[in-house]
Amino acid sequence: RALTTFGRVTLVTVLGTTATFMYFAAKETHPPAWQKPFDKDKKTVVILGSGWAATSMLKNMDTEEYNVVLVSPRNYFLFTPLLPSVAVGTLEPRSVIQSTRYVARHKARRVSIYEAEALKVDPHAKQVTIADLSDIKGDVNNMTIPYDILVYAVGAETQTFGIPGVKEHSCFLKELPDAEKLRERVMDCIESAAFPDQSEAEVDRLMHMIVVGGGPTGVEFSGELHDFIKDDLRSWYPELADKLKITLVEALPNVLPMFSRELIQYTESTFKEQNIEVLTKTMVKEVKDKTVVVKNDKGQIEELPYGLLVWAAGNVSRPITRDLMAQLPQHQTNRRGLLVDDYLRLLGVNDVYAIGDCTATSYAPTAQVATQQGRYLARLLGQIAKKEELETKLAELRGERSGLPEGPEGKVKNNAEEIESVVKQLNKASKIRPFHYSHQGSLAYIGSDKAIADLPFFNGNFASGGVATFLFWRSAYVSSLFSLRNRTLVMSDWLKVKLFGRDVSRES
Ligand code: FAD
Ligand code: NAI
Repeated sequence: RALTTFGRVTLVTVLGTTATFMYFAAKETHPPAWQKPFDKDKKTVVILGSGWAATSMLKNMDTEEYNVVLVSPRNYFLFTPLLPSVAVGTLEPRSVIQSTRYVARHKARRVSIYEAEALKVDPHAKQVTIADLSDIKGDVNNMTIPYDILVYAVGAETQTFGIPGVKEHSCFLKELPDAEKLRERVMDCIESAAFPDQSEAEVDRLMHMIVVGGGPTGVEFSGELHDFIKDDLRSWYPELADKLKITLVEALPNVLPMFSRELIQYTESTFKEQNIEVLTKTMVKEVKDKTVVVKNDKGQIEELPYGLLVWAAGNVSRPITRDLMAQLPQHQTNRRGLLVDDYLRLLGVNDVYAIGDCTATSYAPTAQVATQQGRYLARLLGQIAKKEELETKLAELRGERSGLPEGPEGKVKNNAEEIESVVKQLNKASKIRPFHYSHQGSLAYIGSDKAIADLPFFNGNFASGGVATFLFWRSAYVSSLFSLRNRTLVMSDWLKVKLFGRDVSRES
């Protein structure tokens, strides 16, 4: 009754527009009928992976020019920068993933997406063997697919250096199931410590969470874990909150070697305030089921009891990548990853491009690099298709090919003006620039609503840390999430945690 007629009309209009928008937004997620089908006259690009590099490539690629087949063991894209938040329940797992089919929904030509793992690439026969390794398989679950162009973007796996016990006893933080497992294990340690009549030594062990690796993954997870203790553990398990201890173990003299000196010091002093113990110059030698053996900064061997051990010691090539390297021994000589030229072409073979963490380049293995490489490659393939199309057109105009359509007087067209115009376009399309990486800065969350940022500023560097940087960190990541759906889910998770705290129930 309080509303005027104008107010009512406005309200109805806004609600109507919102409902219409939401209806069409929901509808558009299905593969539209107008998408073109597979075209046998076009080249087929097979993309391996659905991570940063592959998704950026797919998103930016003009599928008008190619048939595209994407193969990945997971049918979604994972926004890795927010993975540490999932591991402590600040964010829900589904808020940081996006279905790959959703990414492909607007493409001019329908993209074939196979949830399968590539087992072997044969770069000489130009084919990939793939298999469905998921729990449920159909009668057909293994096949070999041919490609004209292969985009190899399978990422990397967690480096263990062959240290005994790492695979058996520690948790990784690389994929979504790792974060879900971690969240569950943290709660399991706490509930086991709360079991009646537990000895003090056993409570201390169960409540000791060791993070190995002082790179950004280890640092961000330590910060998130600290927040969980400060914000939630204290209210739900007051008798245990003070027993929880976080130790970050790093082999080098300091954490975060890729950040500037002042931000390293800022992180170390913030961790001190948060009671996170940082053991630098300390190398893990062995992981046992309840203790970890380290060589400390004085060169002595120590055994530290733990309840949870998180292993974040960097990247190593996947077995399929090592197999691909072994097939090209003269060119693929870097153990860190695949060697590519300035146009991201795999050295030693034609028609294979490699992007992202599976490569060994002068850039750090980051999402930023992988995204820019994917975008570049999408443009490059578009340019190559254009060039080939112009070459065909020019040949037709010059009458150099047999079986060409004939001109009005039964002669092959030879229009000088048109030829000149095509030659100009061809010259332009032939100017292919090499990949150039543009560094946008490094960001990391360090706990207590603080983040650090090293940003390029004119020809120098701008370093900042604290709460304002944290707000920048959040807005930067929310804006780089791939869809409105993800942005809405992430922001509502943050709000939920602010209002109700993190959920401490264990799911399995
Ligand atoms: P990935 O994103 O790992 O994707 C690889 C894809 O290949 C996956 O879809 C995988 O399922 C698929 N695959 C694997 N094996 C096969 C196979 N045999 N056949 C077919 N497909 C296969 N970088 C930043 O720049 N900023 C950050 O804030 C940041 N935060 C991070 C936080 C965490 C916790 C982690 C782990 C990494 C973070 N990174 C960050 C690094 C960033 O995630 C990687 O550099 C990036 O994921 C590399 O992209 P990629 O596409 O090469 O590999
Ligand atoms: P990393 O390679 O950056 O760091 C691993 C650390 O583990 C190294 O400092 C290494 O010295 C240490 N280590 C290795 N073996 C050890 C041992 N036995 N004992 C003790 N310490 C040991 O790995 P991380 O953090 O997983 O990052 C991988 C990539 O992803 C990097 O390129 C990083 O820049 C990127 N990334 C970026 C983020 C960001 O920008 N916020 C967040 C997470 C990852």
